[in-house]
Amino acid sequence: MDWIDFYDFKHSVIYVNARHRDVHYRTIAEDIRKLIPSPSAHVLDYGCGEATSADLVAAACAQLVLVEAAPNVRASLTMRYAGHPKIVVISAEQAAALPKASFDLIVMHSVAQYLGEAELDRLLAIFRTLLKPGGFFVLGDVVPPRFAAPAAALALLRFGAANGFFWAAASGLLRIFVSDYLRLRKTVGLSHYSEAAAIEKLKNAGFRPERAAHNIGHNRQRMTFVARAPDSGI
Ligand SMILES: C[S@@+](CC[C@H](N)C(=O)[O-])C[C@H]1O[C@@H](n2cnc3c(N)ncnc32)[C@H](O)[C@@H]1O
Repeated sequence: MDWIDFYDFKHSVIYVNARHRDVHYRTIAEDIRKLIPSPSAHVLDYGCGEATSADLVAAACAQLVLVEAAPNVRASLTMRYAGHPKIVVISAEQAAALPKASFDLIVMHSVAQYLGEAELDRLLAIFRTLLKPGGFFVLGDVVPPRFAAPAAALALLRFGAANGFFWAAASGLLRIFVSDYLRLRKTVGLSHYSEAAAIEKLKNAGFRPERAAHNIGHNRQRMTFVARAPDSGI
């Protein structure tokens, strides 16, 4: 089992109930909307998960491409957005084969922790080619090296308290504790980056990165970076 299999569950244990899942995706969609540079923008969300509020993002841009590697999650996204005039759902392989300079904004939120360093570098190089000159890559929910697990637990409890699912969040944490999450964390591992390490990685990939004032989503300890592609393209 790897992280893609873990997220391919019909009902991932990461979301403590349907309300948590929907508030989570609505919060992310509202944050992503704010980063869309213009209503004519073409946007790609890489590793979008269940993306139950993607229509909010699509309403603020010309086209939204949702990329999801987990096949069952992708199938359910395809059904959810079938016939949506602006949303397209594709696999990771299809994303890598898209024409160069197709997008004004590429977002990858809460995925980098599941990628090894080489895999992240490979994806950054793909994103560079997919972005238009001067386009933006947003790397969200980067997990810092210290106190990540207690900070994530506390952030979930606070998010639950603010949105009417505190007790579900508390019991959900226990379920995560006995799920495959901890086993995978030991066997496959999670990647952590300090602010300086993330900035350096993005610079090495040819971007001009800055840390955003706030992370996308509910976890304030994690970091979001907005990285601009060069104006002249590659
Ligand atoms: C925590 S979910 C994030 C979903 C959504 N972006 C969000 O912020 O809620 C992690 C996502 O990473 C994807 N993922 C994990 N490992 C991956 C890999 N090696 N390549 C591509 N996607 C991967 C999973 O399929 C899942 O959709």
